[in-house]
Amino acid sequence: MSTTKGLEGVVATTSGVSSIIDGVLTYHGYGIDDLADYASFEEVVYLLWNHKLPNKEELSTFNKQLASAAKVPDEVLDQMKMYPIDKVHPMAALRTAVSALALYDEDADEQDETANYQKALKLQAQLPTIVTSFSRIRQGKDPIAPKEDLSFAANFLYMLNGEIPDEVSEKAINKALVLHADHELNASTFTARVCVATLSDMYSGVTAAIGALKGPLHGGANERVMAMLSEIGQVEKAESYIKDALERKVKIMGFGHRVYKDGDPRAKHLREMSRQLTNITGETKWYDMSVKIDEIVTNEKGLLPNVDFYSASVYHSLGIEHDLFTPLFAVSRVSGWIAHILEQFENNRLIRPRAEYTGPDHQNWVPMEKR
Ligand code: COA
Repeated sequence: MSTTKGLEGVVATTSGVSSIIDGVLTYHGYGIDDLADYASFEEVVYLLWNHKLPNKEELSTFNKQLASAAKVPDEVLDQMKMYPIDKVHPMAALRTAVSALALYDEDADEQDETANYQKALKLQAQLPTIVTSFSRIRQGKDPIAPKEDLSFAANFLYMLNGEIPDEVSEKAINKALVLHADHELNASTFTARVCVATLSDMYSGVTAAIGALKGPLHGGANERVMAMLSEIGQVEKAESYIKDALERKVKIMGFGHRVYKDGDPRAKHLREMSRQLTNITGETKWYDMSVKIDEIVTNEKGLLPNVDFYSASVYHSLGIEHDLFTPLFAVSRVSGWIAHILEQFENNRLIRPRAEYTGPDHQNWVPMEKR
């Protein structure tokens, strides 16, 4: 038996959802650059689930379906109020709340196509409600229900802040959502597929995926990038901070990638957004510092920024609390998880690889009193 640490380079399934070929990312064949520049997040979700772009009527119906699925059961919101809100990370709260959603869905274990589509709509529409409600609850404020006439991106900011966002903020969130929606067989998507390949339910698959996304080597990196930027504090201190960290073999969050070795195609969009948004807020130091770090890490290690690096200064500029960065990633990526879960169900086989045994052999049983 041969093993590949971290399954690097292993092709574990076929998929028609998204691809990374020669460093180019596409969602069902549509290039990420076009989608980032022109698509609404709702169109992208429709594309990922239905394998085609919606026409006007299909999109309008889809938006209505999402809007009518957005209400989180009161029981789940009430339970959230009982979480240890001053201690719990919003990703842990999200993981717990999504798991709880299944308890209030009579069709949670129903596996037919209609039931799965209804669950898909609920999960997609309710994740932003959960994330924003948690943020408000811990500030002692009441959760805000989404408005049917707002876009998905605008609703996220509206439910978070209680105000209809300006166009620049709405567009920035929309683009960030589009860029994070799917990414081939990344760790959380693989987790979701492994989970549902046992024929477990969609809520379990998404709950498991949230657990995987939470880690700092995956989605948890964006929050840690902001922590690093805050710790550095000013552009002049970036060089010594990063060089010292690299010398101590500390990983610089937001750099490197398992698949992309010539750069993450999403990063340039986020870099430009960071430039524009920090110009608007006047806090250009976050962009300047990020560019400086980018130069140093690239020169010193040959590592390029990934999706999480510039998204940190983008989200900060939009006034999003730092520990909501990864939950916001989940609000988008759930669309990809669902697309992969639906694809897994279409042609399922249990995912069960092997392990090469490296433990001791031929052990003789030792009775308790002789151990
Ligand atoms: N900072 C410093 N060194 C890094 C690094 C980083 N961000 N990412 C990788 N490296 C180094 C590793 O230390 C390793 O060096 P070595 O060969 O001297 O031991 C080498 O580059 C290969 O890295 P490895 O961790 O084996 O790559 P991987 O494919 O297993 O991991 C990531 C990919 C993304 C997990 C990794 O690059 C990382 O930890 N990045 C930071 C976290 C992050 O931004 N995650 C979000 C990913 S979208």
